[in-house]
Amino acid sequence: MAVKVVVGAQFGDEGKGKMVDWLAKDANMVVRFQGGDNAGHTVINAHGVFKLHIIPCGIFRPGCQCLIGTGTVVNPDVLIAEMEMLDHAGIRLANLMLSEKAQLIMPWHVALDEAMERSGGIGTTKRGVGQAYADKFLRKNFRAEDLRNMDTLREKLSRHLAFVNTQLAFYGAKEFLFEEILNKCLYWQEKLIPFLCDSFDTVHSALLRKANILFEGQLGAMKDIDLGIYPFVTSSNPVAAYAAVSGGFSPKLIDCITGVCKAFSSAVGDGPFPTEMPEADAALLRGSGANPDDEYGARTGRSRRIGWLDLPVLRYANAINGFDELALTKLDKLDFLPEIKVCTHYTLNGQIIENMPATDDLYRIEPIYEIFPGWLSETSKCNTFDELPENAKQYVQMISKSINVPIRYIGNGPSRANIILV
Ligand code: GDP
Ligand code: IMO
Ligand code: MG
Repeated sequence: MAVKVVVGAQFGDEGKGKMVDWLAKDANMVVRFQGGDNAGHTVINAHGVFKLHIIPCGIFRPGCQCLIGTGTVVNPDVLIAEMEMLDHAGIRLANLMLSEKAQLIMPWHVALDEAMERSGGIGTTKRGVGQAYADKFLRKNFRAEDLRNMDTLREKLSRHLAFVNTQLAFYGAKEFLFEEILNKCLYWQEKLIPFLCDSFDTVHSALLRKANILFEGQLGAMKDIDLGIYPFVTSSNPVAAYAAVSGGFSPKLIDCITGVCKAFSSAVGDGPFPTEMPEADAALLRGSGANPDDEYGARTGRSRRIGWLDLPVLRYANAINGFDELALTKLDKLDFLPEIKVCTHYTLNGQIIENMPATDDLYRIEPIYEIFPGWLSETSKCNTFDELPENAKQYVQMISKSINVPIRYIGNGPSRANIILV
């Protein structure tokens, strides 16, 4: 495995959690390299059903170190709650580490996200992710290492709180008191100091001993702050190259980039979604919410928008990531369809367009579809590629051919065991 980066190839929720949980069987270390607890990474294995928001999905593998990396934004309350949840489920946390340089999501970031969404937002997860990254880039934010020195933290807090409260007052939101934040920081210090680490040293020592390191991405290509459907994006870079930035090593050391892609499309939040289905069709693929693999946000519970597979999105995701392989998830969810539509191209003003259009143009493009015959049988019963129905095989091969990337894993059910190796 060496250094592998697992990223979302669409709009998020592709099944990264399931893939990382599975791939971590060969990993010595799993690193969450960007994003915050806006993530909902579903893992279903012998330990139960989990929706992890910030802890890497390698945590279920006893020998695997799990690092919350430098490029992340971490809400300490959410992290502590997730640690307690895993602890109650009997999952060992001895291998969990938090980069000293990880940025903290402070209570005002969450309050500001909520307030800004109320006054007309983009449909964020309201976890304060964008606000924490904004303060990071203003060089005003708190990092996990600040919990080590309460005197400095106290000073920094007294300087910063007036600025924060002014912003909150602008939105008519409740202001924060110095003592209430300080008490929180003391609690976080007690709980989190034992997990702090020098991420550079942790990652480079692992690289030196040629450990298998797996970088777990959050969200997907189309929601990248620089390369996605701005402004309907997150505030970090879910592309594979950012794993090297966050880990502090040369991108030349990445051996394998795995794109995770659903056999159809889904998205949460506002913004263009070219292959979105009419609600009557979407409802069938979405499910009622009774099953853990139904299409409802693993973070917010919002019902996901559903669309057909969008090959221009996949081609773009490949162009900006450079996939060595794809994991195609949720093939089984198409089992009941007599026909499956796939968007092969976009046209704009009657012309086929080659590159990913600007966000505004994505509302105006026309998706051109090809219709593929369904297979109308249960792929979840198949254990090998050869056992898949012929039309399912052709669907998989068509995707692989259209972006010229091998599909090495096929998901045919929500659990860890439901993976066909190709
Ligand atoms: P992530 O954010 O990329 O980790 O994906 P989510 O966990 O938010 O959403 C993916 C959903 O699909 C979860 O409910 C998973 O349990 C489910 N899932 C993943 N792979 C498969 C698969 O191959 N088949 C089925 N039926 N469900 C899957
Ligand atoms: P995983 O890792 C799907 C979306 C939000 C919104 C935009 C910005 O589970 O794939 P943010 O809270 O990040 O400021 O919201 O990004 N979004 C996600 N959509 N899966 C996620 O994570 C998401 N994290 C954020 O819906 O459109
Ligand atoms: Mg998710």
